[in-house]
Amino acid sequence: MIKRELIMSYESHLQSKKYFDETAKVYNKRSGGLVYDFSSLMFKRRNEIVEKFISPSKGFQTILDYGMGPGVFARFCTENGFSFIGIDISTKMVKMAKSLKLENANFEVGDVDSLNQYEGKIDYVVAIGLIDYVEEPMKVIKSLTSCTKKDGNLIISFRNRNSLPGVLRDTVKWIWNKIFKNKIKNSEKVFFTSQHEHSFDFTTQILPVLKELGFDNYKIKYFNCSPIFFNFPIKPWIWHKWFKIDSKISSSLTKIFCSGFVVHATKVEKK
Ligand SMILES: C[S@@+](CC[C@H](N)C(=O)[O-])C[C@H]1O[C@@H](n2cnc3c(N)ncnc32)[C@H](O)[C@@H]1O
Repeated sequence: MIKRELIMSYESHLQSKKYFDETAKVYNKRSGGLVYDFSSLMFKRRNEIVEKFISPSKGFQTILDYGMGPGVFARFCTENGFSFIGIDISTKMVKMAKSLKLENANFEVGDVDSLNQYEGKIDYVVAIGLIDYVEEPMKVIKSLTSCTKKDGNLIISFRNRNSLPGVLRDTVKWIWNKIFKNKIKNSEKVFFTSQHEHSFDFTTQILPVLKELGFDNYKIKYFNCSPIFFNFPIKPWIWHKWFKIDSKISSSLTKIFCSGFVVHATKVEKK
């Protein structure tokens, strides 16, 4: 087996690695819905959308989950007949994913360059909660799409730029910056560290790129129709109620109130 070196090309990616290494345990609880708080609710909604976009494997199919975290989708994918490949920059996340001990799943530590080895080989390429953090999001989208087979699928999530939660978040950051002379320079950075936090508008920013890359077929689902972005505990019954309400009200019509969206895009073969 070839031992691959982790090539860290950007300072901000190094910051992401540090951040996710430090928060891996807490993230695992939230993303797996093991706690009742606001971010676990949001993660569960996002996960539900992603799992609905993945049809059970026909024959031998592969899924590449870039930025797979603690292996959030790994069990679901292997149970649905896929061979699962997970890549993540955080060694702690990879360790947690490996501890799931899943058959037919392989996890490795890697940055964007590790996608090169999968060019044209993958049926489903998934990147959930990842693109916010990378230095060059459009370049990463291009690398992800180049991993898909001719009729491959891309499932990717984004923060929703032109939305009430986005504006509120930016306003709080602006105030925070004024009061505490914090290092946050603009809305593209997270609150307390120097990682990126990109957000996008689907129609004007993402769709043109996907079309240019040959992904003409797409479905889009919005989630988290709520202005709340700070995490806090919620009573279980409120959590479940809110989850159901959010599934009903988040849509293209209410997108201005939704903090995120997931896109499922497929290539259309040119005749
Ligand atoms: C918000 S978490 C999402 C985890 C999981 N995909 C999910 O849906 O819950 C973002 C993940 O991306 C990983 N990540 C961030 N930057 C990365 C990079 N440049 N290359 C690979 N993984 C990265 C982090 O370590 C973290 O596990």
